Amino acid sequence: MPVSKKRKKSSNSIDPQPGMAPKTVIHRSTFTTMAGIVIALGLVGWMIFAGGSGDSTIKVIVPTLTAAAQSGEQTFNRVCLKCHGDNLAGSKNGPPLVDPFYRPSHHADGSFVSAITQGVRQHHWKFGPMPPQPQVKAAEIPNLIVYIREIQQANGVF
Ligand code: HEC
Repeated sequence: MPVSKKRKKSSNSIDPQPGMAPKTVIHRSTFTTMAGIVIALGLVGWMIFAGGSGDSTIKVIVPTLTAAAQSGEQTFNRVCLKCHGDNLAGSKNGPPLVDPFYRPSHHADGSFVSAITQGVRQHHWKFGPMPPQPQVKAAEIPNLIVYIREIQQANGVF
């Protein structure tokens, strides 16, 4: 009995180490290579499909932005661009915000706050619902709205 216990212990402590260490190393490097390829392909795809304005739905005039709008632009590009597109022009994931539908008299600033904090059900387009965007801090919302309004205004939305 003590012998078999010893054997078990020794086999547990010796076998997995030489047996598994090389496997783990091969697995890791293979995984890293695969992940690298996937990331590289993903970046190329992203550059082709999202980086250009290829999937923007409309042409947008970009005015000289105020400092507040420039700060809002950074938030927009970080969070909203992937759906609402370069310069609010829209993408395959979401509508352009440079649209008369989103003018202040029809979508007041409060509806932007609510879209960011509560999300939006699909009702005006066919992109599906907009999920809430909790990664936008409350303090960032005013400048984000300034940015959207300045682009809208430069494009005759209001
Ligand atoms: C995952 C995609 C996605 C992201 C990210 C996103 N939106 Fe949206 N948003 C949508 C879609 C889709 C709609 C249209 C829903 C409809 O009317 O059918 C929409 C609608 C809106 C509306 C209109 C709300 C209303 O009352 O009709 C506003 C305003 C808006 N988005 C602002 C933003 C802002 C600001 C951000 C960044 C903080 C943002 N969205 C991020 C997809 C997105």
